[in-house]
Amino acid sequence: MKTEYITITDERDSESIQKAAAVLKRGGLVALPTETVYGLGANALDAQAVHKIFAAKGRPADNPLIVHIADFDDIYSYVEEVPPRAEAAMRALCPAPLTGIFRKKACIPDVVSAGLDTVGVRIPDQAVTRAVIRAAGVPVAAPSANRSGKPSPTTAAHVKEDMDGRIDLVVDCGPCAVGIESTVVDFSGEVPVILRPGRIGPAELKPFFPRIEVDRRTIDLSSAQGPVRSPGMKYKHYAPDAEVYVVEGSEEATCAKIVELARKSHGRRIGILAQQEDGRAFETCADVVFHGGRTLEEYAAHLFDLLRRFDEEKADVVFAQLIPAGDMALAVRNRLYRAAANRIIRTEEDRPAMEETKEGTQ
Ligand code: TXA
Ligand code: MG
Repeated sequence: MKTEYITITDERDSESIQKAAAVLKRGGLVALPTETVYGLGANALDAQAVHKIFAAKGRPADNPLIVHIADFDDIYSYVEEVPPRAEAAMRALCPAPLTGIFRKKACIPDVVSAGLDTVGVRIPDQAVTRAVIRAAGVPVAAPSANRSGKPSPTTAAHVKEDMDGRIDLVVDCGPCAVGIESTVVDFSGEVPVILRPGRIGPAELKPFFPRIEVDRRTIDLSSAQGPVRSPGMKYKHYAPDAEVYVVEGSEEATCAKIVELARKSHGRRIGILAQQEDGRAFETCADVVFHGGRTLEEYAAHLFDLLRRFDEEKADVVFAQLIPAGDMALAVRNRLYRAAANRIIRTEEDRPAMEETKEGTQ
């Protein structure tokens, strides 16, 4: 299959929008940008088309897909019930990097929900993609457009690396602003549970709910409490070829620790993912130094691109500096811990990472 690439810079470019919509309507696969990462879209009501997503990604069949819609009111065609507080939250916050899990209607094929009786629904904050969804007139099932096990794609070039020749069309709108995937919140029970942290954090959800839980597995990858509520949590994800270590704590402590570890790693090609502005201390002891960004928002936006670049640079080992602060700490930790397969070095024993993420966090 030959993959076509089009750039759409304006949601009023109706010719290009119609072209992408036509591919979806005839059961094809279209990579679409969102504010988080690029998604690999197909008509969510067409089981055949959705099967092709799993084949193109090499994705396990028990991992459900998120259904993307353009307007909140469309949600009632696909889910049985939206609890009033969840409705208030989604109406107020969306379009946003927020996926709500609800009990699904029968029109959503089992292949989308991977046999679960729930479905994740999201309204992406990307006007071009919403225009494509509206023009197609169908909801769009879309996982991240990476091969399974690779970091999520945040540019059309990443999609090309993973999907060229496997899908019909790539819509390029430039790099994704948020850079890490949406917050997934299970709204189908009494108390909402954050299953995957993202840019929308507990603080933004708090005004709408008396209580919010955070699933322990978001941060404690070895946690074995109860059944896995989000199948995606079982799988190794965002895994670069290099052995990644997260070095977490204050700027001074993490900097000293990374320099010490790098000096001990003779004979290996060393990468450092820096968060601090001044990376001079790192340049003398590593082969490849990338700067993720000072704030965790910037760090998140660059994270997946830089993980791919460490692979291109053939780094054997990567030390990723993490100076946690604010609402994005949970989301960035979750992605880094997974990339690092749980190799975490905490430089300050008195500030355990779990502190603010215990189940039942309000
Ligand atoms: O930002 C995003 O969410 C991106 C863009 C493209 O929208 N999409 C994305 O999709 O990250 P994916 O398939 O790579 O990740 C979806 C996650 C998986 O961990 C999956 O297990 C979980 O959401 N999920 C989907 N439906 C679910 C459901 N009904 N119950 C529990 N977890 C669900
Ligand atoms: Mg994914």
